[in-house]
Amino acid sequence: MQKVYFDHNATTAIDKKVLSVMMPYLETQQGNPTSQHSFGRHARTAIEEAREQVALAIHAHPSEVIFTSGGTEANNMIVHGAAIKNPQSTLVRSNIEHPCVARPMEALTHQGWHQDLLKVNHDGVIPDEAYKSITADNISLVSVMLANNETGVIQEVSRLSDFAKGKKAISHTDAVQAFGKMEVRFDELEIDAMTLSSHKIYGPQGVGALILNKRSDIEPLIYGGGQEKNLRSGTENIAAIVGFGKACELISESLKESSMRSRELQTTLEFHLKTLGAEIFSEKVKRLSNTTFFAFKDIEGSTLLTALDKKGFAIASGSACSSVNKEPSHVLLAMGIDEDLARGALRISFGNQNTINDVTSFIETLKKELQTLKQLTAIAA
Ligand SMILES: Cc1ncc(COP(=O)(O)O)c(C=O)c1O
Repeated sequence: MQKVYFDHNATTAIDKKVLSVMMPYLETQQGNPTSQHSFGRHARTAIEEAREQVALAIHAHPSEVIFTSGGTEANNMIVHGAAIKNPQSTLVRSNIEHPCVARPMEALTHQGWHQDLLKVNHDGVIPDEAYKSITADNISLVSVMLANNETGVIQEVSRLSDFAKGKKAISHTDAVQAFGKMEVRFDELEIDAMTLSSHKIYGPQGVGALILNKRSDIEPLIYGGGQEKNLRSGTENIAAIVGFGKACELISESLKESSMRSRELQTTLEFHLKTLGAEIFSEKVKRLSNTTFFAFKDIEGSTLLTALDKKGFAIASGSACSSVNKEPSHVLLAMGIDEDLARGALRISFGNQNTINDVTSFIETLKKELQTLKQLTAIAA
């Protein structure tokens, strides 16, 4: 059976070129970057080269790149790091942030901090009024994701930047989903901090970065030997960092072409989905070119997902980042989407290997599965 992977916002297959630069650090290069001998120096050089590759890809300075174990750690690091420096302050985020921004903020509300939410509109966009509704003065951090992992909606980060400057707060954007799918320039966004993850851009899992400018003073999340400018102690995962650096280089080279290709696939897919009666969430607003979040009225998302999986198509359901969470997507609920429709939500996220044939064969299969499910529903009614 042909297998088609349509879940690139969840993770991507490691690029062969990435794997080949990592292999020496898994096989024979055993240096610890803090050691002074040649093995150690070699490892240190490899990390610094990767730091430059990451910085170059997002137009940051290499000294602003702090390697972490991934997006989750980088997000926890900025939330805790900013909060600890400013006890009892307010933390601001949108109500559609990934749980690795939302949960640490919520946890801090039990320890003396406050949380204020920027509420999205029906399209999943944060309107200007949302910023105006925040009246707190002592704000330590404002965090708004650049692109949403479920809808693909892209936020206007300049608003976040202006708001945070006015409040003298640290501004942060989670760019885990945006990076590699659209141009992301740290220098032009005028924000203080940004989160990246390697495994969304054909790099290895378990590595990412917090990009942090020099003005922002945060407390470390992990203390120890003082690696990563004292902000993230622990012996570096050299092979993964080297792979992340290479993935950044490759993604920058192919960005224009890959986003054009995925936009074509997205247009075709959405045309057919709508013909079949699907609702496409956030259809009319600026979205990532690889992401389509949709639902069919009266069809349960997980049932359709399972049926399509059996036919070889890997797609995601509403709460894609947590298979244990059976609640409808918090993003759709925040947008005011009806709970029943939200339960039907499915996400397709294209990647480099997908072709137009994948889309047409998916649509053919989907038609058949929908027919079967509708017949079953009719019998049960
Ligand atoms: C928007 C967003 N932020 C953060 C993360 C977490 O990144 P990681 O898997 O590298 O911990 C994800 C992962 O799905 C994500 O989609």
